[in-house]
Amino acid sequence: MKKVILGVTGGIAAYKSAEVARLFVRGGADVHVVMTPAATEFIAPLTFQTLTGHPVYRGMYADWTSDKIRHIDLLDNADVLLVAPATANTIAKMVSGIADNLLTTLYLAARCPVVIVPSMNINMYNHSAVQDNIRKLIAHGCHVMDPDDGELACGVYGRGRMPEPQDIYAFTRAAIRPKDFSGLKTLVSAGPTREHLDPVRFLSNPSTGLMGYALARALSERGAAVTLISGHTHLNTPPGVQKIAVTTTEEMYNAVFENYEQCRLVIKAAAVSDYRPLKIAEQKVKKNNDLSTIELAKNRDILFELGKQKGDRLLVGFAAETEDAVENAHDKLLSKNLDLIVVNNLKEPGAGFAVATNRVSIIDRSGEIEQLPLMEKEQLAHHILDRIAQLL
Ligand code: CTP
Repeated sequence: MKKVILGVTGGIAAYKSAEVARLFVRGGADVHVVMTPAATEFIAPLTFQTLTGHPVYRGMYADWTSDKIRHIDLLDNADVLLVAPATANTIAKMVSGIADNLLTTLYLAARCPVVIVPSMNINMYNHSAVQDNIRKLIAHGCHVMDPDDGELACGVYGRGRMPEPQDIYAFTRAAIRPKDFSGLKTLVSAGPTREHLDPVRFLSNPSTGLMGYALARALSERGAAVTLISGHTHLNTPPGVQKIAVTTTEEMYNAVFENYEQCRLVIKAAAVSDYRPLKIAEQKVKKNNDLSTIELAKNRDILFELGKQKGDRLLVGFAAETEDAVENAHDKLLSKNLDLIVVNNLKEPGAGFAVATNRVSIIDRSGEIEQLPLMEKEQLAHHILDRIAQLL
C-alpha cells in the first residue's frame, strides 16, 4: 500500500487515529490526513503532521492553488480512503451525498476502496438511523469495520468502541487486497506436532506456526476458503479461517485427509515430527525408573501420501534444512510430487523457527530457484501466493 488518505472525524477515539497513522507510515505508506473541523477539537493537527511528515488538510478552500483543486488532487493514486473514527454525523452525510467539508467531499470523489470505522456511543450505534446508514455505506461498496465491545468513553459498557489501531491496520490491508484466490478451497497445515512419551513429556520442535498462520491469513484476505490444520501454537486464528487443532502427526494426517478431497491447493507449512515413541506411558515416567532409551516408530509422511493422490491439485511444501538446502529441497519436491517447495536454511540469521522474518528460496519442478531476501513472514506469505497464483 503506497498512498493512504486517513480521514479523522470528531469522536473521542480520534486520539487512537494517531497510532493508526503511525502504523501505516511504519508499513511504508505515504499517509495524508484529512480532519473534519470537529476532529481538531479532539486532537491537534500537529500530531498527525509530525507523524506523517505532511501538512494536515482541514479546509475546503485554504489549500487551493490556481492549477490544483485540492480534493481531486489528494485522491490521485490513493490506494485507500480510510475514515477512522467515523462519527454518526459524518456517516449520515456520506450516505446522503452531502459534501460540506473536505472529507465528505473526498468521499464523493473517491474511486479507490473506502474503509469506514464507525465509533460512537452504544445507543447512537444501535439507533436504526445509524444502522440503516451503515447498511447503505456497505451498499455503496464501502468496507465497514465493526466496532469493538468494551468500556466506552461515556462510561457505559457495550458496542461502539473504535477497534485497536493494529486491527484497523490489518482490516484495511485485507480490504484492499486483490481477491485473486476467490472461491478457491485451500488447506494449510501449520505449527509443530507433538509426540507424547507420557502425559507430561513430548518430542517436538520449536515451530511457533507463524509462517503457516501468515499463509492462512493471506489466503483468506485474498478470497480463498481456508482450512487450517494446526499443531499447538499461541497464535489467534486469522479471521474467516476454519481451524482444526491437532496434536500428533497421526492426528494431522487424519485431519488433512478428511479435508483433502474438496481442496484445490494444499500448503504444508507444518513442522511435522518424523518419529513417535513406540509406547506412550499412561502415567508420568518417574525418575527412579532409570529410563535410558526411548524406542521410536516412524510416522507416515503426510505430504508424500498427498503427492500420491495429487490429481489436479497444487501441492506446496516447506523444507527446513541445515546443509545443502537447495539440493535437499529439490529432491523433496520430486519425491513428494510437489509443484513448489519453499526452503529455509535454519542456520541463516533471521530464518526459520520462532522469528517474525524468514529468508527462503522457492524452487519449482523445473529446478528453477528464486532466492528471496530476508523479509517479514506476512510479506513472504503474499509473495508465495503470488507465485502460486501464476500456477493456478
Ligand atoms: N512433512 C509431512 N509429513 C512428515 C514429514 C514432513 O507432511 N511426516 C512435510 C512438511 O510439512 C514439509 C515437508 O514435508 O512441508 C518437508 O518437511 P521436512 O521436515 O523438511 O522434511 P522431511 O520430509 O521430514 O525430511 P528430513 O527430515 O529427512 O529432512
